[in-house]
Amino acid sequence: MSNIYLREVQISDGMNEKIYEMLQCIDKEENGFMNGACGISKEDFPGYIEKLINQKIKPEIGLVPQTTFWLFDRYDIIGFSKMRHYLNEKLRVKGGHIGYGIRKDKRNKGYGKRILELTLKEIEKIGVFEVLCTCDSDNIASRKIIEASNGKLEREDNNHCIYWINMRR
Ligand SMILES: CC(C)(COP(=O)(O)OP(=O)(O)OC[C@H]1O[C@@H](n2cnc3c(N)ncnc32)[C@H](O)[C@@H]1OP(=O)(O)O)[C@@H](O)C(=O)NCCC(=O)NCCS
Repeated sequence: MSNIYLREVQISDGMNEKIYEMLQCIDKEENGFMNGACGISKEDFPGYIEKLINQKIKPEIGLVPQTTFWLFDRYDIIGFSKMRHYLNEKLRVKGGHIGYGIRKDKRNKGYGKRILELTLKEIEKIGVFEVLCTCDSDNIASRKIIEASNGKLEREDNNHCIYWINMRR
């Protein structure tokens, strides 16, 4: 697949109909992956984008800095990923460094694998080379995605898988 790339969230995205529409095609919560834009009004959307941008520079108390990326295939907006700059105790158990979601009508076409590969390239740029990815044990698609990026299963607790991806290998 070519022409597939990530773009970081930016303030003008608050007016972008296509991004808003993509975000309505991923549930509010799926397998622990949260989409805070699902179901919000278009009027509230610019505020939501501003919140995402702030998560990178001044996250709320108890949260770590996080960058959001949109996945594009040419002009189509396919999904989004979240990249946490470092881990806290909570993320070590559930969440890890990277989370991703693909819009429902574009699933099972290889985009999930691409979004993780591309987000791994971004996390390398900020100096993270040991990447934690977690998912529910029964989230077969996500397990395959992580394993395709060389994720090694460290352990499985309470129906949840803890994988590490070593970028230096
Ligand atoms: C998980 C998710 C990102 C997968 O995206 P996707 O674009 O369908 O993934 P891909 O097309 O790259 O598929 C990856 C593999 O999973 C398989 N797969 C896809 N959907 C599947 C499903 N529902 N059940 C079982 N396997 C599935 C694919 O066939 C592929 O297998 P292969 O390696 O044998 O070819 C998507 O379903 C999603 O957004 N889910 C909601 C959020 C979520 O669960 N995020 C992950 C946790 S952070």
